[in-house]
Amino acid sequence: MLIGAYSKEAVMMSNLASSVLPTRTQPLVADALTTNSFADDVRAGLTAHPKTLLPKYFYDALGSQLFEAICLLPEYYLTRAETEIFETSAAEIVAQLPEPITLVELGSGSSRKTRLLLAAALARQGSLHYQPIDISETILAQSAAKLLGDYPQLQITPLAADYTRGLGALTRRAGERILVLFLGSNIGNYTPAEARDLLRQIRRAIQPGDGLLLGADLKKSAALLEPAYDDALGVTAAFNRNLLVRINRELAADFDLSQFTHRAFFNDALSRIEIHLVSQRAQTVTLRALNLTVEFQAGETIHTENSHKYDLAQLATLAEETGFAVARTWFDGERRFSCSFWQAISETGR
Ligand code: TRP
Repeated sequence: MLIGAYSKEAVMMSNLASSVLPTRTQPLVADALTTNSFADDVRAGLTAHPKTLLPKYFYDALGSQLFEAICLLPEYYLTRAETEIFETSAAEIVAQLPEPITLVELGSGSSRKTRLLLAAALARQGSLHYQPIDISETILAQSAAKLLGDYPQLQITPLAADYTRGLGALTRRAGERILVLFLGSNIGNYTPAEARDLLRQIRRAIQPGDGLLLGADLKKSAALLEPAYDDALGVTAAFNRNLLVRINRELAADFDLSQFTHRAFFNDALSRIEIHLVSQRAQTVTLRALNLTVEFQAGETIHTENSHKYDLAQLATLAEETGFAVARTWFDGERRFSCSFWQAISETGR
């Protein structure tokens, strides 16, 4: 089943990888990706102990817009810190690879910060092939249309898919180096073991001499970290609770929104912010489309997201384990956030 209101082309990924694609604003949709997986994953997560839901499902049309709003919150310093790095150093960043480069972005969203890198690459090489990959087809279509309006020399191949499928579909034109962008501390949303797997997948999708630009939030005190995930206005709470709204709508469920609250806290032992939905009382929820009934105890949580925080030594180890060498790292003025250029090296990791 396909999501979103746009007309789509269901294209097999194997065909995608071998063809040269025209510039487009309608994303290609990885069809098999969406088939049944939301239902299957929700069933698996809500029958697990402890209960859990996969964060990629936050990003329906509303969820993607709520995340854009999070990026504007005073408490959410990550986006501003990364933007500051690009404002200062975009030209230097794209110059880490010889031209021409193609930019591939995992989880591109609105591509707002990426504009600084696109502009720097365009200034250097005149034209550019940009391959944004995002789970939300609507936000991809919107941002591709806006980007093409503002940068006519851009060629865009938007791909609505998860990262695994997106990486299987990226293209390289003659003589191009690939620079994969993985920004916004999205790496933190994986456990360290999952992060290693994903980085190895990225490494296998590119060649020695290509690069990865990794934006990673740095470990710091809970007092600095927690407000970024629990803002005074309640936007992050709405983003988290929207997952239940989506389940109610798409799986004919009856979650009572007034009985689930947002909780975010720093787990020091695991160096991560944990995000949960907390059941305010003992209650039963029915998901008619799944023919499933789920019991909650008072105070029981659904764990919906982690945001791991790394220090520089841990990031260097992660690179080494996955076939990369950290060539250069940039910071914002307050050194809260890091952005590193990782060069793909010949060994694909231990
Ligand atoms: N990659 C973002 C982060 O870890 C995602 C994010 C920000 C997020 N705020 C959130 C995910 C709140 C879930 C809930 O910072």
